[in-house]
Amino acid sequence: MSRTPRTTKRLAQRIDVDYFHRQHPLRQWRFRISLGLLVLAAVWLAWYLPARNRRVYSSGRNSPAHAVFAANCSACHIQQAGVFHEVAADSACLSCHDGPIHHLNQAFNPTCSSCHVEHRGHGRLAAVSDVACTRCHAGLVTRGALANYNRSIDGFVSDHPEFAPVRPGHSDPGTIKLNHFVHMKQNLRGPNGPVQLDCFDCHRTPADNRPLRFGSAARPPGSPAPAKDMLPSDDDRAYMAPPAYAKHCLSCHPLTFDKRFSESVPHDKPRIVHDFVVKRFQEYIAAHPSELRVVSPAVSNLPEKPLPVSVRVLTPTQWVNERVAESELLLWNKTCKECHTLSFSAGSDLPVVAPSNITKRWFAHSVFDHDKHRLVTCTSCHTGAMTSQETSDVLLPGIQLCQQCHHPGTEAVESACFECHSYHDWSQRKEVKGRFNLPELPGGLVPPQTTPGFSGMK
Ligand code: HEC
Ligand code: HEC
Ligand code: HEC
Ligand code: HEC
Ligand code: HEC
Ligand code: HEC
Ligand code: HEC
Ligand code: HEC
Ligand code: HEC
Ligand code: HEC
Repeated sequence: MSRTPRTTKRLAQRIDVDYFHRQHPLRQWRFRISLGLLVLAAVWLAWYLPARNRRVYSSGRNSPAHAVFAANCSACHIQQAGVFHEVAADSACLSCHDGPIHHLNQAFNPTCSSCHVEHRGHGRLAAVSDVACTRCHAGLVTRGALANYNRSIDGFVSDHPEFAPVRPGHSDPGTIKLNHFVHMKQNLRGPNGPVQLDCFDCHRTPADNRPLRFGSAARPPGSPAPAKDMLPSDDDRAYMAPPAYAKHCLSCHPLTFDKRFSESVPHDKPRIVHDFVVKRFQEYIAAHPSELRVVSPAVSNLPEKPLPVSVRVLTPTQWVNERVAESELLLWNKTCKECHTLSFSAGSDLPVVAPSNITKRWFAHSVFDHDKHRLVTCTSCHTGAMTSQETSDVLLPGIQLCQQCHHPGTEAVESACFECHSYHDWSQRKEVKGRFNLPELPGGLVPPQTTPGFSGMK
């Protein structure tokens, strides 16, 4: 087979000299698509324009709480001379709801949007990043007076201080003498035989309505009935209600005062107890006058020489005074004293009961919720509760326990500052009046300017 010789001319003829002038089909399509998209975008914008809906310019979806205002950009982006401002003004946020400051002595006041990040779609606005807090708390400086808070906190697991109430040297300020060890023993003497107490026999949240085993929740006579339609709120499940004698101690520790009566004195101030005892003895002696004749052995300093018994006939007043004195000696020095510290002051024959001081909330600067932790046994957090013998013992868990579950990572519970702390001092909250008429919502379906009262997109 003969071959045409390979000259450079022949080879050059193979090259398409117009190659660079003609467009490759792929390039052509790219151009057409781009043009098409541009036209589509213009149509899309034109579609939204009559509705005065600026959502299309937004950098992302508004948070769920603000979804109904999403089309009213100017609700947050205050416009001056028709110019759109990317910065959301604090004054706009404050016109719908307050965001009170954190502390009077804070060195500066960060803008709302430096913590509450918008246009990030789902998720709670209040779930702020740790940086929002640590930019101050990693090296805290204050204006004027300072409290004694730790000044460098960078993260919950890295260098968060131990909780103040469980630091060494802190004790429980309560005055009710309660020995947890004694009460958690097996076969404790109960009103009808041996029992095994459970924590919930004395500790439960206000929302917990299981029947009480050793007391009653009955209201004292005369106190108003709680509203029937009031459902317990989440707050009613967060903290334990302080133990109370009538609900948790009554049937094992009755306040009997004399063998003539099976009833107890009211669990109340010594003055009320005194009046009750006096009244009971007065009624009794009126019904049993024969007891005014009292037979008692005379007092002698010489026990080896028995004396004749003496018989005294008392007036009703004398009899009542003697019985009351006997009963109160027992009450103040034994019955009440088992649980209370009583003090006598000069000028009064009745003692004063020390305030019980049972702490309702230990962590004043953070929140806790027992309901959210109900999967864990009480004693895995309150490890000292089975062995504690003194009221002054603090039985609360320390930070290491919390860190076992609350730490960074995918297999852990949230450990950002906002989980346990609040920022705003809501006690300083200012009320804000509603300013929308319903047709203006949601999402600006009705052009906002058709109704007065709201200055929507212009
Ligand atoms: C509920 C309040 C709110 C509404 C309503 C709102 N924005 Fe924003 N927007 C913000 C906040 C907060 C920022 C963060 C600005 C800053 O850093 O100060 C922001 C930022 C922006 C930015 C800057 C880019 C960015 O992500 O930081 C653009 C653009 C923007 N918004 C567009 C819009 C448009 C368009 C609308 C209406 C469709 C709108 N926004 C509605 C609160 C809002
Ligand atoms: C047009 C009225 C309006 C404006 C403006 C507005 N908000 Fe709101 N905001 C609401 C309403 C309504 C809710 C939902 C009810 C509530 O929680 O009070 C809400 C809820 C919130 C919440 C709690 C919801 C959550 O997911 O945690 C935060 C935080 C918040 N707004 C911050 C801001 C900030 C910051 C700005 C300014 C950038 C702002 N808001 C502007 C009306 C507004
Ligand atoms: C340093 C960060 C920070 C700044 C600045 C800040 N917030 Fe907050 N905000 C939070 C945190 C954390 C929460 C959730 C805990 C709480 O309620 O304090 C919250 C909660 C809220 C809530 C929701 C309350 C609810 O009902 O759950 C509103 C509304 C709010 N902030 C508005 C504002 C406004 C308005 C501003 C600006 C004036 C502002 N915030 C500034 C951190 C901040
Ligand atoms: C602008 C600076 C600043 C920012 C931002 C800030 N704090 Fe504070 N914080 C302070 C100051 C100031 C105090 C009071 C210190 C003192 O009196 O010694 C304080 C005190 C506290 C306390 C103890 C007292 C209390 O209020 O319970 C806690 C807890 C706290 N901050 C949590 C937070 C959290 C959580 C955040 C983020 C959402 C945050 N802080 C953001 C300045 C700030
Ligand atoms: C017989 C009733 C009774 C039982 C049962 C009981 N407690 Fe208590 N507990 C009290 C009383 C009363 C107080 C308040 C006196 C005080 O401050 O110590 C108290 C206080 C506490 C406190 C807060 C005070 C502190 O110092 O930390 C914790 C926590 C606690 N108990 C946990 C438990 C746990 C967990 C159990 C079950 C293992 C339990 N208790 C069983 C009566 C009881
Ligand atoms: C078995 C233990 C127990 C005995 C016995 C007892 N109390 Fe109490 N007492 C309590 C508890 C628990 C409280 C705290 C909550 C409550 O029940 O109101 C309390 C509270 C009180 C208070 C209110 C104190 C305050 O915080 O201001 C008075 C007053 C009081 N008791 C008087 C008495 C008197 C008087 C007696 C004897 C007649 C007595 N108590 C016997 C357990 C007891
Ligand atoms: C199930 C019955 C029962 C209940 C309920 C009960 N106790 Fe007791 N408590 C006892 C018994 C039994 C003793 C004596 C135990 C012993 O000496 O071994 C005792 C002893 C005490 C003592 C003396 C402790 C000591 O160190 O010896 C105090 C104080 C006391 N109880 C307070 C309370 C208070 C306060 C409540 C309610 C919050 C309460 N108890 C509920 C059965 C009970
Ligand atoms: C995940 C750990 C955890 C578990 C589980 C737990 N607690 Fe607590 N408990 C705490 C913390 C933290 C506090 C301090 C909260 C505060 O007062 O600020 C507390 C406080 C208490 C108090 C004091 C009153 C109060 O609410 O502040 C009592 C009483 C108590 N717990 C009893 C119980 C009982 C009973 C159980 C079981 C049903 C239980 N706890 C389960 C962590 C736990
Ligand atoms: C898992 C819950 C939790 C998390 C997360 C958490 N804290 Fe705390 N924090 C507490 C508790 C509980 C206390 C003790 C409160 C008290 O003493 O009343 C506390 C105390 C504080 C105090 C007061 C310290 C002192 O010296 O008494 C500050 C300030 C504080 N936290 C800031 C922060 C900051 C900033 C973050 C985020 C980096 C954070 N916390 C994360 C639970 C938490
Ligand atoms: C056994 C694991 C575990 C331990 C230990 C634990 N937590 Fe939690 N905690 C959880 C879980 C689970 C939730 C629920 C998270 C949710 O609802 O998103 C939670 C939620 C919380 C919340 C948010 C409550 C709310 O209202 O949403 C706080 C505050 C909190 N924990 C504080 C603490 C503190 C303080 C300690 C230590 C005393 C602690 N936790 C120990 C598992 C744990």
